[in-house]
Amino acid sequence: MCGILGYVGPQNVSEVLIEGLRKLEYRGYDSTGIAVFSKGDFQLYRSKGKIAALVEKIGSEKPQGHSGIGHTRWATHGKPSDENAHPHRSENLVLVHNGIIENHVEIRQELESRGVCFSSETDTEVIPHLMEHCVKEGMSIEDALYSCIAKLKGAFAIAVFSKQQPEKIYAAKNASPIILGIGQGENFISSDIPAILDHTRKVVVLEDGEVAMIDREKYWITDFDRNPIERDPKEITWSRIAAEKEGYKHFMLKEIYEQPRALADCLRGRVDEKQYLPALPEVSLPKLESMHRVILIACGTSWHAALVAKYWMESFIKIPVEVEVSSEFRYRDPVLDSNTLVILISQSGETADTLAAMTKAKPSGARMISICNVIDSSIARKSDDVMYTHAGPEIGVASTKAFTTQLTALALLTLAIAYQRKSISNAEVRDMTQQLLHLPSLIEECLDMNPHVEKLAKELIDVRDVLYIGRGSSYAIALEGALKLKEISYIHAEGYMGGELKHGPIALIDKDLPVVALVSGGPTYEKMLSNIEEVKARGAFVIGVCEQGDQKVQKQSRGILEVPQTSDFLRPIVESIPLQLLSYHVAEQRGCDVDQPRNLAKSVTVE
Ligand code: F6R
Repeated sequence: MCGILGYVGPQNVSEVLIEGLRKLEYRGYDSTGIAVFSKGDFQLYRSKGKIAALVEKIGSEKPQGHSGIGHTRWATHGKPSDENAHPHRSENLVLVHNGIIENHVEIRQELESRGVCFSSETDTEVIPHLMEHCVKEGMSIEDALYSCIAKLKGAFAIAVFSKQQPEKIYAAKNASPIILGIGQGENFISSDIPAILDHTRKVVVLEDGEVAMIDREKYWITDFDRNPIERDPKEITWSRIAAEKEGYKHFMLKEIYEQPRALADCLRGRVDEKQYLPALPEVSLPKLESMHRVILIACGTSWHAALVAKYWMESFIKIPVEVEVSSEFRYRDPVLDSNTLVILISQSGETADTLAAMTKAKPSGARMISICNVIDSSIARKSDDVMYTHAGPEIGVASTKAFTTQLTALALLTLAIAYQRKSISNAEVRDMTQQLLHLPSLIEECLDMNPHVEKLAKELIDVRDVLYIGRGSSYAIALEGALKLKEISYIHAEGYMGGELKHGPIALIDKDLPVVALVSGGPTYEKMLSNIEEVKARGAFVIGVCEQGDQKVQKQSRGILEVPQTSDFLRPIVESIPLQLLSYHVAEQRGCDVDQPRNLAKSVTVE
């Protein structure tokens, strides 16, 4: 986690850093800091808490200068505090870091034995001291950087500059994201694009194992062995406004409302609209001919998308599908071979556990396809093929549009493979592809229920627990609904398979336990009605999620969330919308920090 930012140019660097860090706060927000080179020395400001606390600490007289670095932190080593906030400094250097230095204890001991005093508990602080040590032995800053990174183990995206060369900022990357923003007479280093979009649209993405330097006029890149790398900037086409709230109270609500657009973008160019067949130019389908098994790997919400995809793939491709949590898969001895298709799902494309799972799967020769939102992210770059979800930047920590676009991409991929392998009839593929094209308007209809959901949310604001139940692919949506509620409202919630209640959890049911029941169609419709009866008989307050006009569910439920009528295929996507809205309104009415819930960060780039 953590966001890093660096700037060299004619503008007042304090303003550039503070405004840029606000756009990176989604990466972590337990402490922030900036270092500005001014009057021959670094002016360092660091504060526990969000950027507002830092701004208050700086006061009305912001340090004036033309080069500097900033950081917004999600703590890994050392509690959130002023001392542990970045930037960290030595006598002549300041540095910001995103990642974890795994061998920091050894380096620290060695430096301490040479008389170096540390002022924080962080792993990061070893880096400026190690570099300083090299400088004192006669190395240039550049030499010191190359020498130091050769000693570091772990993940790092760093930006560092020195008193001797204050208008040259260096960056180095291994396993944590970093980009360069290329302006006119000014240049930037950042963890992500929104932080620099006010200033430039020209971006260079650094790869693992690369070092870069920016000054006002130029940039250069080398590998860790100093071999020069030529890379031209790419033009970013996102609108700046896409990274802002556009009048919504929270990013999460804005992102829920963006779903019709996001889904349309995800479908765009991927359906042959004359024949109604999926057309995925980015996936080498012929290479999947001999595939006999699929493994879907992801974490959190992305894992829930994988669970839904398992139902689709087994039904339509008719081969065995397994779903794995990345953090478990990476430490097991999974049995894979070159005829296994591994599908990695990740909004950020930077989730450390999912990256490690890829590394684990690699030696088997399995083909890897990723479903990512962030373009050029590490998981996307490391896959054989990548399907981008095109959801646009997702800033709210709770994933919404990323989830439904992941499902849309997975549905397209399923149909494309099924068509290629002729595992279902062409007519069936055409029918479901046509259904997908109607998805944006179905979601639009779902959003009309927002005022109703807002009222219903009042019933849940004081409860202690909520149980979500579903069957089939709706079980995955029950899990997702429960995750969404607990992560932003801090109400304990669990997702359960309706049929499993009688094997234990039914003991929890009483009048104080609301049960959100997803009544999907298909073979388990009647079974879910029976599950509702079971919990009602024990006093539970049932909120039924069903299709419009379903009187059976209406009769049995105290609260109702009606979604437009749809097929079993699309239902999991459609019924996730009212659950997103419900979580949002419950959290909002409880006064929670919806976009930045406690203890969480948007991309989990540490283990
Ligand atoms: C929950 C949420 C997380 C992420 C998980 C994986 O709302 O967003 O559970 O889904 O951290 O992140 P990605 O998809 O970036 O790999």
